[in-house]
Amino acid sequence: MNDGVMLTAQGLHKSFWQNSLEVPVLKGVDLQLVKGEHLAVVGRSGSGKSSLLHLLAGLDSADSGTVEIDGVDLLAADANGRARIRREKMGFVYQQHHLLAEFSAEENVALPQRLLGIGESSARKAAREMLALVGLEDRLSHLPSALSGGERQRVAVARALVNKPQVVLADEPTGSLDRASAEILMDLLSNLSRAQGTSFVVVTHDVSMLQRFDRVESLDAGKLLPLHSAVR
Ligand SMILES: Nc1ncnc2c1ncn2[C@@H]1O[C@H](COP(=O)(O)OP(=O)(O)OP(=O)(O)O)[C@@H](O)[C@H]1O
Ligand SMILES: [Mg+2]
Repeated sequence: MNDGVMLTAQGLHKSFWQNSLEVPVLKGVDLQLVKGEHLAVVGRSGSGKSSLLHLLAGLDSADSGTVEIDGVDLLAADANGRARIRREKMGFVYQQHHLLAEFSAEENVALPQRLLGIGESSARKAAREMLALVGLEDRLSHLPSALSGGERQRVAVARALVNKPQVVLADEPTGSLDRASAEILMDLLSNLSRAQGTSFVVVTHDVSMLQRFDRVESLDAGKLLPLHSAVR
């Protein structure tokens, strides 16, 4: 195995079945990400970007192909094994924050730490430190319903990064935000990922965001291909 490689996908195929009709979505996706590399994935709506991220996170199964995170075969693991790999190695940011409504910002960010078995007071301390890094040190006890959309996404970023994951996957994390909030959020995600040396895959429709990334690939006709310098 190449020491510098963090994430590898090979020959990923995925179809969905609708009323006994096969809808092929991924038709042999290959991807390699080295440690600390930042990749943006673009593609038209319905091209399979979310489906791909779900496979990379082990949240869904491929029909064929492999996904390795830090040399561990994710799709070969059982559901418990995948959950453990996700907890220990990955962070995920969705378009809609998916925060727990009845938990405060601090409790939401502490949760991944608690799931790693870290004690309550250390987990809360780590959560407060992460929330300070995303500029929300004054919003610790706010419930998600009392936060703005941009603030909720910043809590979601803090939650994704609090365990210092080796890989962060983000599915249109700025999709529901205005331009200014989107810029702030993408800067936070890129800068914090760079500071932690995290490999980072983001799906985005926003061409103005792409210059932050080491590489841009396009999902088209079920395959991932490099997007050439047109957008750079
Ligand atoms: N659970 C499912 N059952 C059936 N079809 C599905 C399912 N999930 C996704 N699909 C189909 O797979 C295709 C790809 O969906 P996906 O959500 O991955 O696209 P996307 O590139 O993320 O699109 P968008 O930019 O709109 O988010 C779509 O045609 C969708 O209808
Ligand atoms: Mg999607």
